[in-house]
Amino acid sequence: MNTTDRFPPADQLPSLPELPDPFLRPDGKRITAPSHWKALREEWLARVLHYEYGHLPPAPRGVRAETASEERAQGGIVRTEYRLHIEAPIALQTRLLVLRPARAGKLPVIVDGDLCWGEPRAEIVQEATKRGYALAFFDRTQIAPDSAERTGVYEAYPDYDGGRLSAWAWGYHRVIDFLLTQPYVHSRRLAVTGHSRGGKTALLAGATDTRIALTAPNNSGCGGAGCYRYQAHGSETIADILRNFPYWFHARFAQFIGKVDRLPFDQHIVKALVAPRALLSTEALADLWANPDGTQVTHLAAREVYRFLKAEQRIGIWFREGEHAHTLTDWQALLDFADWHLLGKPPARAFDRLAFPVRAGLYSWRAP
Ligand code: GCU
Repeated sequence: MNTTDRFPPADQLPSLPELPDPFLRPDGKRITAPSHWKALREEWLARVLHYEYGHLPPAPRGVRAETASEERAQGGIVRTEYRLHIEAPIALQTRLLVLRPARAGKLPVIVDGDLCWGEPRAEIVQEATKRGYALAFFDRTQIAPDSAERTGVYEAYPDYDGGRLSAWAWGYHRVIDFLLTQPYVHSRRLAVTGHSRGGKTALLAGATDTRIALTAPNNSGCGGAGCYRYQAHGSETIADILRNFPYWFHARFAQFIGKVDRLPFDQHIVKALVAPRALLSTEALADLWANPDGTQVTHLAAREVYRFLKAEQRIGIWFREGEHAHTLTDWQALLDFADWHLLGKPPARAFDRLAFPVRAGLYSWRAP
C-alpha cells in the first residue's frame, strides 16, 4: 500500500464523531487478545506521527557528554553540569543538568526538557533527591528553537519535516542514550516529565520510546493529554494551537482544523501507545485552557487499553486545585506514582480519582 492509500487526506477519511476505537484494525475487525496489540500499536503510531506530529528525526551516530562542572551541593546532592554532544550530521549541543543524591547504587532518573524555563526549584530538587531520585534537566530549545526558525536539528537534517514536539521528543531520547551509559542510572527506572508544551513533548517521548518506564505529562492539554473531540470550558482547539504554534506539529495537521471528526485518532490513542508502561497525567483544575476535563476523558478511554493489557493500574490521573504550573504538588504526585510503579512500594494515594462527571456518548466501545 502506498502512503496516500494508507493515509488518505482528511477529506477522504470517514467522519468519526466518537473517540476512535483503539481496538479496531485497519481491516475493520477488532482485536481480541493482548498479543494482537503490538502490531496494531505500530499502526496507530504510524498514523499519529503521519497526521499530527511528524516523524522523529533519525537516530544520530551517537552521543557523548563533557562534564562542565561537578560539585557537592547542599543536602548531600551531587550537581553535575554536562554539555551533551549529539553526533548528528551537524553536531548539536544541549546543556544537561543532573542532580542526584550522593549515594552508591543505581538510581531511578526523571528526565525533564524544560531547562529553558530555568533550573528546577530547590524544594523540588530536595524532594526528589531525598526520595532517592535523580533529576536530569536539559534544554529542549537547544535541540530545536521554539519558533518557526529551522535551526538546530533542522539544520542537521535539512529534509526533516516533523514539528517541534517531535524534535524535542527526540531530544529526550538522546538524553536517555547518554544516561544509559552512566553507572549511577537504573536502566529500567527511567521517567520523563515536562510542563505544558514540555508536557506534550514528554507524552510523545514516552509514546515513541519503550526504554521509558514512566511517562508523566503535566498540564499538557491540547496536543498532549487533552482530548481534541471533547472541548469543554473554552479550552484550546486545533485551530487555536495551529494559529499560534503551527511549527509544533507536522504541516499536515492543519487539515483537521474544523474537521476534528475526520481525525482518525484522538489523544487517548497517544496515551495508549505508552501502554502497558506507566503513565500519569497531572492536571490543574483551574487550568481550563489545558482541558483537564478532556484529559479525564482520554484517561478513561486509554484505560480500556491498559485494562485489555492487564495493566489497568499503570495509568493514572491526578488533579490539584489551582492554575497552570509545574508545582511541588505535581512532583509529589509523580514521585508517589514512581515509588509505586518503578520502586514497587505500595501506592501512597489513589490515582484514579475523577474530578468531572463521566461524560456519556463520547465513545461506545470498550475493551474486548
Ligand atoms: C500556550 C499554548 C498551550 C501550551 C502553553 C505552554 O498557552 O496555547 O498549548 O501548553 O502555551 O506551553 O505554556
